[in-house]
Amino acid sequence: MRGAVAGLVLVLALGAGPALAQGAAPADAPKPDAAQASGAPDGKALFRTKTCIACHGKDGSRAIQNYPELAGQNAKYLLQQMNDIADGKRLSGKDDRGYPRTQGMKDVMHLANAQERQAIADYLAALPAPKPRALNPAPDAARLAAGKEAYTKGGCQTCHGPDGLKPTGVYPIIGGMKRDYLALQMIEIRDGVRQNGASKSMVPFSKKLDDEKVGLIADYLSQIERPAK
Ligand code: HEC
Ligand code: HEC
Repeated sequence: MRGAVAGLVLVLALGAGPALAQGAAPADAPKPDAAQASGAPDGKALFRTKTCIACHGKDGSRAIQNYPELAGQNAKYLLQQMNDIADGKRLSGKDDRGYPRTQGMKDVMHLANAQERQAIADYLAALPAPKPRALNPAPDAARLAAGKEAYTKGGCQTCHGPDGLKPTGVYPIIGGMKRDYLALQMIEIRDGVRQNGASKSMVPFSKKLDDEKVGLIADYLSQIERPAK
C-alpha cells in the first residue's frame, strides 16, 4: 500500500516537471512592473476585469452624463464611496428603468476585496484628469460667471476649494465633473437621499440651493479645466 502511494507521488512529481518548466518565464519575457513584483494587486487590471468598465469605461471616464468621472479623483474619496455603495450606505434615486442608480454597482463590488479596492482607487486617482465635456447648449460667459458666484457665495469653497479643485481628506474633487452627475448629487444630498460619509456636513449649504441654482453651479463646475498632474 505504502509502495502504491509512493509510486503515485512519483508519477505526480514527474508529471508536474514539464508543466513547471513550461510555466517558467522565458529569459526575454517582459519584466512585471514594480507593483506586481511586490505582490501588490494591479489596480488597472482589476478595474478592467471586475466589470467596472462596463459602466465607467476603460479609463474611468465614460461619457454617460449622469455617471461620475473616476479618473483623477481623490483616492481616499474613491475608496470610501466604493465601500459605502457596496455596504448599501450610499443610496441614490432611480434610473430610467426604475432601479436605484447605485444598484448595478452594489451588485458587483463584492468581486473586489479591501486590498483590491485600494489598488483600484490608487490606479484611478493617478489617471490624467478628464477634459471638460462640451454642453449643448453651451453656457455663455454670463451664465458661467453667475454659477461661480453662486458657488462662492454658497460657501462651497470652504470644503471643496476654489473651482471645486481641492481634494481634502475624503472630500471629492468636483471641478470638471459631468454636469448632470453634479446636479443629481447636489439635489440628492440636499433632499436626504444620499446620506453617506460626511455628506451631512454639506446639507445646510445645499438646502439654500433651489434647482435653478443647482443647474447654474453644475454648468459652471463642469466647465472647469482641471490642472494637469
Ligand atoms: C452597473 C453599472 C456600474 C458598475 C458595474 C460599476 N459602477 Fe461604479 N458607479 C455607477 C454609478 C451609476 C455611480 C453613481 C451613482 C449615483 O449616481 O449616485 C457609480 C459610482 C461610483 C463611484 C463613486 C464616484 C463619486 O464621484 O462619488 C466609484 C468610486 C465607483 N463607482 C467605482 C466603481 C468600481 C471600482 C467598479 C468595479 C468594481 C464599479 N464602480 C462598477 C455604476 C457602476
Ligand atoms: C462642510 C463641507 C462641505 C460644504 C460646505 C459643501 N460640501 Fe459638497 N461635499 C462635502 C462632502 C464631505 C462630500 C462627499 C460626501 C461623502 O462623504 O460621501 C460632498 C460631495 C459633493 C458632491 C458630490 C461629488 C461626487 O463625486 O459625488 C457635490 C456635487 C458637491 N459636494 C457640491 C457642493 C456644492 C455645490 C456646495 C456649495 C453649495 C458644497 N458641495 C458644499 C462637503 C461639503
